[in-house]
Amino acid sequence: MKILGIESTCDETGVAIVHNGSHIEANIVASQADLHAAYGGVVPEVAARNHIEQIIPVMHQALTAAGVGWDEIDGIAVASHPGLLGSLLIGTLTAKTLAITKQKPLYSVNHVLAHVQAAFLDTSKPPQFPLLALIVSGGHTLLVHFSSHLEYEVIGGTRDDAAGEAFDKVAKLLGLAYPGGPNLSRVARSGNPKAFDFPQAKLGHESLDFSFSGLKTAVLRQVQHLAGLDYRAPSHGLYERLRPNQIADIAASFEQAVVSELVTKLKLAANKYAPRSIVVAGGVAANAVLRQSAAMLRTAVHFPPPSLSTDNAAMIAAAGEHLARAGLVCPPEQLEATPTLNLK
Ligand code: KG4
Ligand code: ZN
Repeated sequence: MKILGIESTCDETGVAIVHNGSHIEANIVASQADLHAAYGGVVPEVAARNHIEQIIPVMHQALTAAGVGWDEIDGIAVASHPGLLGSLLIGTLTAKTLAITKQKPLYSVNHVLAHVQAAFLDTSKPPQFPLLALIVSGGHTLLVHFSSHLEYEVIGGTRDDAAGEAFDKVAKLLGLAYPGGPNLSRVARSGNPKAFDFPQAKLGHESLDFSFSGLKTAVLRQVQHLAGLDYRAPSHGLYERLRPNQIADIAASFEQAVVSELVTKLKLAANKYAPRSIVVAGGVAANAVLRQSAAMLRTAVHFPPPSLSTDNAAMIAAAGEHLARAGLVCPPEQLEATPTLNLK
């Protein structure tokens, strides 16, 4: 089957065409990162307006790149949740309209779980079930046990911030431009990961949950201390009082603390569930330190390439393939854009 996927949950407009859930025929992503950088984060209204401008040109580009016409498309998959409501509405309205006018079956995809599908794309060694997935994105941090593409159990999650959100907030504190994660990671390369011993959340030895808010506060306290101020000092502008090597050391020590929390829980889950494969997916999976650290686990770890780790429509199309095979069609009038994450 050839599925056309649409992604517009946050600040990337993506359209992809994927064959059999595994081969990418086209994957176009128009990122709005530059638009939002001026504000230090995603502005929902700006994101929605930009999706309106981008979605049709991006779709034409994808169809042209794949060299296919509408008659060759077997179905339309769209990320319908979770995400920013205004952004989701553009993708879902486009998908509904096309499903009706082109008379194609429509598939409603969970964006967060779809990140795992990126590990099955264009690879000669796809992951095996049962698989354990660590999904680390800007809005979510989940450990999920999959017994098949459509059968899963959430076994752990964050109790507060998502890992990517923590990267973005600490990057902002350090005066690094949006998107924070990749910029912080770049700066961390010249820092010492052992310079500061940031705490790891203590949620109990058996817990598969995560927490990053204490770490974030510990970083703020350290930055205030290095700036020669006390805990009452507001966070903005503090970085101007820090030397570049201090910023690099904070970044490296913070990155190390996040990675060690993620990998500790991943290891715990792998010991408990004994999966055949592990997948690390979502935007934070693009992080080089996380990739190195998780690669040391005994079970085979699959990382999508960085370009498929961050938001894209190829993973949405791949998820659509499995809904199609199971006959889980969504009538256009029932497709809803839902900001929250719905897990069955
Ligand atoms: O999955 P994604 O593209 O969007 C969401 O679904 O949220 O993830 C975006 C998140 C952002 O928080 C971004 O800072 C983070 O992924 N990210 C990284 C890196 N690249 C992207 N975090 C750490 N290191 C990176 N190299
Ligand atoms: Zn995502």
